[in-house]
Amino acid sequence: MVKTISRFVCQSCGSVFTKWSGRCNQCGNWDSIEEEHTQTALVQKALQEGAKGKQLPFVSLDGDIELKPRTDTNIQELNRVLGGGLVSGAAVLLGGDPGIGKSTLVLQTLASLALSGKKVAYISGEESIEQIRLRAKRLGLEKASVNLMAATNIEKIIASVDALKPLDLLVVDSIQTVSTDTISSAPGTVSQVRTCAHELVRYTKGNDISLVLVGHVTKEGQIAGPKILEHMVDTVLYFEGERGHHFRILRAVKNRFGAANEIGVFEMQTDGLQEVSNPSALFLSDRQADVTGVSVFAGLEGTRPVLIEVQALVTPTTIPTPRRAVVGWDSNRLAMVIAVLQARYGMMFADKEIYLNITGGLKITEPAADLAVAAALISSATNIALPESCVVFGELGLSGEVRMVSQADIRLKEAQKLGFIQGLVPPKCKGGNKSFILHSISHIKDLAALFANSNHKQVA
Ligand code: TYD
Ligand code: MG
Repeated sequence: MVKTISRFVCQSCGSVFTKWSGRCNQCGNWDSIEEEHTQTALVQKALQEGAKGKQLPFVSLDGDIELKPRTDTNIQELNRVLGGGLVSGAAVLLGGDPGIGKSTLVLQTLASLALSGKKVAYISGEESIEQIRLRAKRLGLEKASVNLMAATNIEKIIASVDALKPLDLLVVDSIQTVSTDTISSAPGTVSQVRTCAHELVRYTKGNDISLVLVGHVTKEGQIAGPKILEHMVDTVLYFEGERGHHFRILRAVKNRFGAANEIGVFEMQTDGLQEVSNPSALFLSDRQADVTGVSVFAGLEGTRPVLIEVQALVTPTTIPTPRRAVVGWDSNRLAMVIAVLQARYGMMFADKEIYLNITGGLKITEPAADLAVAAALISSATNIALPESCVVFGELGLSGEVRMVSQADIRLKEAQKLGFIQGLVPPKCKGGNKSFILHSISHIKDLAALFANSNHKQVA
């Protein structure tokens, strides 16, 4: 007899409890526990399979390797992030805020593959056929032979996809909207997401189909549903961008078939996402020379150098706890740089408000940006602009020393390519050709001294 078991599952961390409670005592989240039902027959079947256990052979590390073919998506920025293209049989999870352009990106990818003769299918659980057709028309892609279906039932989806075989790419938009009949909880709950993703990954791996799952993100920016979803797939991509900006950054946070942390840059235009092959030029396009409080950071995103403008504004205030507002950088890191400037150089910020902005909507996580932030802060506080056409990078230690960062030569090469002529860099840093001037900054005092001795034009 099929009996239904009831259990209580935390929708945030996936922990299972026998009783409901208001707070999950595993992850500490409030109001995240929901009741879910599973059927005993399915559980028993799984147990029996385990109990019977047939022996499997072991193999050695050294042996034949069958490399899975890669499919070129014809979108170079996407290829770069994927590590060279879609791998057949591999699963990709694409997460991002609502309205950021996930559905647009997958539709453009599907159409691009379809136009190069691949067989592709798009399952949408969020939008109706009409809405997707409208988008395709707007993008001028309505003639691409994409197999389109609006469905949410996983059993029906897999049966329909099976009838289409052989298939090159399957996109499910989104994993939170599909559900299975075997679980009675609502779509989007931990058990539903886990089971459906597992079924899709298992099916596509077995049939050498590339799978792209679109995932929602929570308000903290994580992909909604169990963390296990990220473990289940081969590649996790986040599509990021600031509202009000047109730039979109596609970032690989996990990739079994390529480098993680690689980024692809797009621009959202009225006719879809356009690739940006030279992001540095774009991020610096509105730059004005000789403005105080501004420095250019020579950063590295994955293997790619990117020059980004860092803007700081330091203004006097009478408020006892002055504001520190940060966009695009870690506020703890800003607090650290301020503390180092205060303690190791004596530049006081206690009666000053500080605003820090990374232009272009990019989020920087590299510690190498410390020196660029410090330079922008000193520049704003002293009202002296940085030397002309100058890039900055270096990690700041708590004693005020400046540390070396990785791949300095790649950063300098990019700076030179974009017409910069000098750099404020950590000691022993090499790179760039002879005409590029390197100012070695070994301590925060050296940086401050540079400003003190500057006869560079001041802008009021
Ligand atoms: P969409 O791909 O639906 O986002 P997601 O699937 O991540 O929720 O993108 C929707 C936004 O993109 C919407 O605000 C309109 C904008 N957009 C453009 O600016 N240009 C375009 O060509 C398209 C298709 C969308
Ligand atoms: Mg969408």
